[in-house]
Amino acid sequence: MIIDILTIFPGYFESPLKESLLGKAIEKSILTIRVHNIRDYATDRHKTVDDRPFGGGAGMVMKLEPLVNALESLQQEEPQGFVVLLTPQGRLFNQRTARDWSNKKRLILICGRYEGIDDRISHFINEEISIGDYILSGGEAAALVVIDAISRLIPGVVGNKESVDTESFELGLLEYPQFTRPRVFRGIKVPDVLLSGNHQAIKQWRFHQAILRTKKRRPDLFKKLPPDIKKGFNSLEGTRNIE
Ligand code: ADE
Repeated sequence: MIIDILTIFPGYFESPLKESLLGKAIEKSILTIRVHNIRDYATDRHKTVDDRPFGGGAGMVMKLEPLVNALESLQQEEPQGFVVLLTPQGRLFNQRTARDWSNKKRLILICGRYEGIDDRISHFINEEISIGDYILSGGEAAALVVIDAISRLIPGVVGNKESVDTESFELGLLEYPQFTRPRVFRGIKVPDVLLSGNHQAIKQWRFHQAILRTKKRRPDLFKKLPPDIKKGFNSLEGTRNIE
């Protein structure tokens, strides 16, 4: 997969793209990430990327010309990129979108800055995406979140495919609790069932814990679970030691 990032802060991406799974995926050429400075596509003498808003008001607005120049230049290459603008006004990003986009050959991510972008950008992009209901100082951190979530779904990026496929959000559940040695830490014990060696009981306990956590912490997700999962859960309620 190729991901092109359009930003006025290209340096922002230097270190994160070298680290961890992302760094390895880039090294293995499973993923190619190219960072482009929007300012390089400004045509005036001062390389202007922002201007005052029509109608007045505080702050500056990102101009269209450098952005559209950049997009048109990038889209001369094949395969065509799916163009995404990172903005708090966008549709909420989630695991389903990550899964969907991980199948694309090429993505172009535009990082918004300042008080926003000239709204006519909507004519030149495919989607506007927000990573959550809070305001970041720009789309750069959001772009990194999106890249991280997508790239770990590309075959070969995460070593253990099962660990991705059985993850909480793939099933609409939060993750069950995990434990490692020591068995007792400052008097706090690991649940007995995990030391029992009974794989069937462990599997059932974990599933139950995942549902229980989801119900307690994310009632919005719990509501959306298929009825048979909720039914199975209700029949187990009260029969196990739970959180
Ligand atoms: N830019 C600023 N805040 C953002 C958010 N929450 N999601 C995506 N892009 C943003």
